[in-house]
Amino acid sequence: MKILIINGPNLNLLGKREPSIYGHASFDDFFTDLKATYPSIDFEYYQSNVEGELINKLHEVGFSYDGIVMNAGAYTHTSIGISDAIAGIKTPVIEVHISNVYAREEYRHISLMAKNCIGVITGLGLNSYQLAVEYFISNVIANEE
Ligand code: DQA
Repeated sequence: MKILIINGPNLNLLGKREPSIYGHASFDDFFTDLKATYPSIDFEYYQSNVEGELINKLHEVGFSYDGIVMNAGAYTHTSIGISDAIAGIKTPVIEVHISNVYAREEYRHISLMAKNCIGVITGLGLNSYQLAVEYFISNVIANEE
């Protein structure tokens, strides 16, 4: 089973960026633990601050992987291009957020991509990613057709 985790803009700064909101853990440490917890899953991790690169990555894996866990960061709220890319691929995408976007500024309450995702997990810290992985594991979604 192949799962890609995608992080969008500013998420390369996890652990350093606004720790009162996003915590002190780096994504690399979390990803190392995640791989150790699920040794049979073939994980890939991709991060970019560039909208078009995120879209290219969705296209690259979106017809062969079993699941994509995506935190598009601020592009969640602005990017029709990412939303269209998710609609155009076959691999199911779960939208995740570290913070509870509904407890924050109103502009974070809008997700342009959510309607093209199979679900959204928000506000559970880095556990948001792990819960999305658990979903893919327990609902083995084959890449049919
Ligand atoms: C975020 C929430 C977004 O509103 C914000 O722009 C981010 C991170 C989160 O994980 O909580 O960069 O996606």
